[in-house]
Amino acid sequence: MTSSSRTRFNVDEFVTLNRRKLLRGIGASALLTATGGWFTRELWAQPVFSEHPFSLGVASGDPAPDGFVLWTKIAPKPLERGGGMPNKAVEVAWAVATDEAMTNIVQHGKAIAAPALGHSVHVEIAGLEPARDYFYRFTVGGQQSRVGRTRTFPRAGAAVAQMKFAVAGCQRYEAGYFNAYRKLAEERFDFVFHYGDYIYEYATLRPDAMTAWPIVRLMPGESGECVTLEHYRQRYAIYQLNEELQAAHASAPFIMSFDDHEVVNDWAGEDTLKNTPRAQFLLRRAAAFQAWYEHLPLRRAQMPKGPNIQAYRRLMAGDLLALNVLDTRQYRTGIVCGARVMAGCEPALEPNRTMLGEAQERWLYESFKSPAARWTLLAQQIPLMRQDRDADPNILSLSMDKWDGAVAARERLFGAVEQSKLANLVVVDGDVHENCAGELKKNFDDEKSATLGVDFTATSISSGGDGFDISKRRRALMQQDPHIKFYNNQRGYVRHVVTPKQWRADYQVLDKVSVREATMRTRRSFVVESGAARLNDA
Ligand SMILES: [Fe+2]
Repeated sequence: MTSSSRTRFNVDEFVTLNRRKLLRGIGASALLTATGGWFTRELWAQPVFSEHPFSLGVASGDPAPDGFVLWTKIAPKPLERGGGMPNKAVEVAWAVATDEAMTNIVQHGKAIAAPALGHSVHVEIAGLEPARDYFYRFTVGGQQSRVGRTRTFPRAGAAVAQMKFAVAGCQRYEAGYFNAYRKLAEERFDFVFHYGDYIYEYATLRPDAMTAWPIVRLMPGESGECVTLEHYRQRYAIYQLNEELQAAHASAPFIMSFDDHEVVNDWAGEDTLKNTPRAQFLLRRAAAFQAWYEHLPLRRAQMPKGPNIQAYRRLMAGDLLALNVLDTRQYRTGIVCGARVMAGCEPALEPNRTMLGEAQERWLYESFKSPAARWTLLAQQIPLMRQDRDADPNILSLSMDKWDGAVAARERLFGAVEQSKLANLVVVDGDVHENCAGELKKNFDDEKSATLGVDFTATSISSGGDGFDISKRRRALMQQDPHIKFYNNQRGYVRHVVTPKQWRADYQVLDKVSVREATMRTRRSFVVESGAARLNDA
């Protein structure tokens, strides 16, 4: 056995053993003995930190009826290579309680933060009660993390009166403060779906950089575009030092997906548009996925295997909501016509184009046949509804990076919805830095054709800057796409309140992200009645 494969094996075994330990109550010393002593040599037994080791906060994610995953990362000097940690593993204690004061602890244990995973900690908790709040905290070297609040999902099949969640994403650091996250944190959602663009991989901007939006703040240090694991790690650290983002993570479990900027702008499958050799791009993708995993509350099932990752998954919230997290990046066919907005791009119409890939399509369409919940949610990255981007009524201009760039893929999806007679399909996404709400038409050129579901596009947290309500051009574009009922170009998030009878979406927008003090208001609210795929004003 080579030393590197032995290392990988042991790290994985540690995680597994740790889970068993918490279930069976094996002590930490037994755990170390069980791994043949490899870690005893590498373990930093009595860590002492001069700086706060939980500088990047705490988070929870992927709720189940009996648990969730807890996350933190030991980084006393988060912007330094290695986060200010020695090349040794360290033991981190965790506790879960039913109260915020952490007096009624219901589970506790220890986890290993290993250098191979950037001293991140992922603890999968099981055995808790469904549909209730829990609180958690980590301890290392005598120092405690903040207390995070999280929540379990309802039991599968159980009658659920209501689920309340937020959809957010696209948080370019330089474009604005994360004011939306402060507001989001106050709502203590059942969960938050993050559609991606959690970081942007671009080189750090200089103060005199030319941008389409005013630069609100600069990232510390200077670096080129993220390419290696260390680059991506440093970028996540810069973002996660934001107190607003930390408050959001500590307020509710996040269900994470990634879009393009977690790797590189507009990547598609194995295609980067920049003629990078395939092998090099896959190495970069592996580094990007590892950093994504290290910094977020993801289950072990989402640990990357080199350049590949299992990011699509289904979470069931009782009998109310089947939440399908989709991956529209990893398996899609390559970008055609340059990824930009295009009129008359013939290759976009080719029947073999895909957004999800064959296996994910099958997995999704199979679930449509016998839905186990009232509402079927596609929680994904890019707008599904057609959007003409040319005001000339004779020119249909489409964005090749969205579902519009793979028309056949959308038609197959719609075909599966129709064939299964799937009612109550709701799609959420983002990526375009605009609020948008629309109806999914079987034929977007025919207003009278069947409506198969609704599409709620969430604006960005900060990308695009302060923004504005709506431009004249957008108003004109809406005339050509009557299935689109709402546009807004401000920052914020979308609040969804789901009951058996009705789905409600509130578009929460901020007046500003260029200053830290901001006012949030509900710009528009829609409701969808169960059984009637139509957007109504609330
Ligand atoms: Fe974005």
